[in-house]
Amino acid sequence: MEFKLTEDQLAVKEAAREFAQNELKPGVIERDNTMSYPTEQVKAMGELGFMGMLVEPKYGGSGMDNISYALVMEELSKVDNSCSVIVSVQNSLVCWGLQEFGSEAQKEKYLPKLATGEWIGAFCLSEPEAGSDATMQRTVAEDMGDHYLLNGTKNWITSGGTSKLHLVIAQTDKEKGHRGINAFIVETEWDGVDIGAKEDKLGIRSSDTHTIMYSNVKVPKENRIGEDGFGFKFAMKVLTGGRIGIASQALGIAAGAYEMSVDYANQREAFGKPIAQHQAIAFKLARMATDIEAARMLVYRAAWLKDEHMDYVMASAMAKLAASDAAMKHSVEAVQIHGGYGFVKEYHVERLMRDAKITQIYEGTSEVQQIVISRSVVKGNREVPVS
Ligand code: CAA
Repeated sequence: MEFKLTEDQLAVKEAAREFAQNELKPGVIERDNTMSYPTEQVKAMGELGFMGMLVEPKYGGSGMDNISYALVMEELSKVDNSCSVIVSVQNSLVCWGLQEFGSEAQKEKYLPKLATGEWIGAFCLSEPEAGSDATMQRTVAEDMGDHYLLNGTKNWITSGGTSKLHLVIAQTDKEKGHRGINAFIVETEWDGVDIGAKEDKLGIRSSDTHTIMYSNVKVPKENRIGEDGFGFKFAMKVLTGGRIGIASQALGIAAGAYEMSVDYANQREAFGKPIAQHQAIAFKLARMATDIEAARMLVYRAAWLKDEHMDYVMASAMAKLAASDAAMKHSVEAVQIHGGYGFVKEYHVERLMRDAKITQIYEGTSEVQQIVISRSVVKGNREVPVS
């Protein structure tokens, strides 16, 4: 068993860390306060190759492995989770989904723009009545012969206001249940695509989350992804990879809160010594370090299984469940360790605490991850032979 990162993986981790600490950190509080979209930062991440990490170089991507992707997500998420959710959706859901399941023509047309960050993509599955139960799609795409006519509303769409391309999941034949669902590539410039107001959120406040309305949008037949009826499985497969991205985000939140807590506890003195030397704080740090390391192992293992083309359905759900719980629990602890300073924005940990919550909700709530894990467990799936 090899626990060492390769030189390439270490180099990309270091590049992401430098970028996050030097370029993202200085303006992150202001962007969070004003809900300002990180336009310049997203452009810079495109230049660094972070918007198409899993895309092959022939389509304009950086051709990295999933471990490198997880490492970049972790470093970005120690600082700016509005940026890292944009990166996660772009890489896991949009770019990887198109590369893995799109036609050659779709890949050639769209991937070079997406992989370089010239175009931002959005994944449009959730609806007012279809959250955890993703089969309950009300958005309809009616087959009109040479095109589909798309009508419906999508909720909570990350990059909803800035994206040039949507992957839209819609019902094409209600009678067929989940087999009557398709996925479509929709360009946002097309007639009938309308963007609702930006959501005012608890966390990840500078990412742009919107409701999207589709009214009689003409979607060419060639923009359907895969065979007729593949849309639900497309969504499930793409989300399975996406959970590695969000698990890495959660890991980054927990690790970022921990790193700042260690620094603070070593320099802040009370009762004649640094608070890190008081057992009350030292034990908190020990718990944080242990839980974070456990989550990290699950996240890297899920990424490794994906790189090895092995089954990672249960592994990605476990990684997301554990890492998002660690993010929530330990960002709260980080605020506690910082005392009054933790409660003000300048010290960054209160933002991480607010950002942590969404990692237990999007790309499948913690309850959905437990559905996925328990179904695997009941089937006797252990994924990796242990003996
Ligand atoms: N990979 C491949 N196929 C899968 C799959 C997977 N991970 N999971 C299910 N399927 C297939 C099943 O094999 C089945 O196919 P067959 O009928 O041919 O056998 C089909 O899909 C239906 O499966 P289920 O009966 O298990 O489906 P279900 O209705 O019981 O749903 C669920 C299961 C896990 C709860 C699923 O609905 C789910 O994941 N819900 C959460 C949705 C979600 O994550 N939303 C996130 C929105 S996007 C977002 O948050 C992005 C963002 O902005 C950050």
